[in-house]
Amino acid sequence: MAKFPENFLWGGATAANQLEGAFDRDGKGLSVADAMPGGKQRLAILGSDTFDWTIDEDKYTYPNHRGIDHYDRFKEDIALFAEMGFKSYRFSIAWTRIFPKGDETTPNEAGLAFYDSLIDECLKYGIEPVVTISHYEMPLHLAKEYGGWKNRALIDFYERFAKVVLERFHSKVKYWMTFNEINSAFHFSALSQGMVNSTGASDFTNVIQAWHNQFVASSKAVKIGHELNPELQIGCMIIYATTYSIDANPVNQVATMIHNQAFNYYCADVQVRGKYPAFTDRLYKEHGVKKEDLDITEEDLALIAKYTVDYIGFSYYMSSAVDITTEEADEVQGNLLGGVRNPFLEASEWGWQIDPEGLRIALNELNDRYQKPLFIVENGLGAIDTINEDGKIEDDYRIDYLRRHIEAMGEAIEDGVDLMGYTPWGCIDLVSASTGEMSKRYGFIYVDFDDEGNGTMDRSKKKSFDWYKQVIASNGEDLA
Ligand code: BG6
Repeated sequence: MAKFPENFLWGGATAANQLEGAFDRDGKGLSVADAMPGGKQRLAILGSDTFDWTIDEDKYTYPNHRGIDHYDRFKEDIALFAEMGFKSYRFSIAWTRIFPKGDETTPNEAGLAFYDSLIDECLKYGIEPVVTISHYEMPLHLAKEYGGWKNRALIDFYERFAKVVLERFHSKVKYWMTFNEINSAFHFSALSQGMVNSTGASDFTNVIQAWHNQFVASSKAVKIGHELNPELQIGCMIIYATTYSIDANPVNQVATMIHNQAFNYYCADVQVRGKYPAFTDRLYKEHGVKKEDLDITEEDLALIAKYTVDYIGFSYYMSSAVDITTEEADEVQGNLLGGVRNPFLEASEWGWQIDPEGLRIALNELNDRYQKPLFIVENGLGAIDTINEDGKIEDDYRIDYLRRHIEAMGEAIEDGVDLMGYTPWGCIDLVSASTGEMSKRYGFIYVDFDDEGNGTMDRSKKKSFDWYKQVIASNGEDLA
């Protein structure tokens, strides 16, 4: 029985800052990602009280500067995606290639020309481009001089950026997303809001204000896009982590409900339903946010209500569990989120708990809540790959992870979920967002480059390359 719809968007996903490199070429300005040090301490450094976005090359490495040289090798990379049979390719536009500092009024033509070539290359192979307008890489100037998204001035800067790229590419690109993982700021606001403690990240009022500004900006992008072409599909993009109570204790169940509201639903409720959810006042109160300190106008609310998103893009890597009854529970690492260790799940080498059933639950929960098409725009296993003596990479662990998640997607489709597509993360190895490591690999395509910056950057196919090719060719039927 064919579970997956005929036009299902099988593909892969990346983000400009993690693969393009060429961080200072052809007029590109510095982004926040260019100021993020490499290594396991990346998030700790960004989360320290003294971090102020200063780039210190004597002290740290900056792996995003070079990425995987995709800027120069994109034709080779897209040819490999085409060989796997990709129907879609999700990538992001580096804001700083178009507006190097973010507050200019004239765009950088060389940046636009690069994305013209990239998009044309996809279209040459019949690959549908899926574009994230902003993926963890706002201009550094806006983070340093304006204090990031808490500043309302960013709405206009983003609107200008979105208008330029939508006008330029709307005839070639149908699928868009306004902000990557907008809800990640609940735990960590440096990547998506450009705020660190020295610019107010630890004050939740700033996070709430920044989100509001992003919601307005997102609605403005939807307005521009739909006025250009009502057929454009413009989505939100959230991290979804299915969240379980550790047990049947009602206090844990309630804590889980509250966590779900705050983390999984707050942003999507606004962007999909067009209004702040009923639990908003309570959320503010619990986080010490006073409504009178927020700048939210009637005009903003009208815009948010009118220009909602067309679909829900989300990333799913892991689930999370809640236990508020003890201080002793094991904390787990996660995709910019925490939680306690779930004894029923295994974890990746980076401690992310693997849970395919949780994806089926996620799909059903989102479908029940929003009744809008869903698009899994990130999923995958970050793992260390080793090259055998014969030069091959047998990444059966990755195949196993993806197979189980695709099976869960099939079940969810049978449950009645409207799922548009699947673009696993890091279809080609790239720089990790949370650690800046190359050794945390997700790809079907191996890139010869290590954490110390050594390697040829040559591309080679892993075992999962042929496996995924067969999955796409059989429209999700042949997962063996
Ligand atoms: C998501 C991000 O959080 O997860 C990506 O949108 C990121 O940018 C991906 O790379 C995987 O996380 P990491 O930290 O393993 O690269």
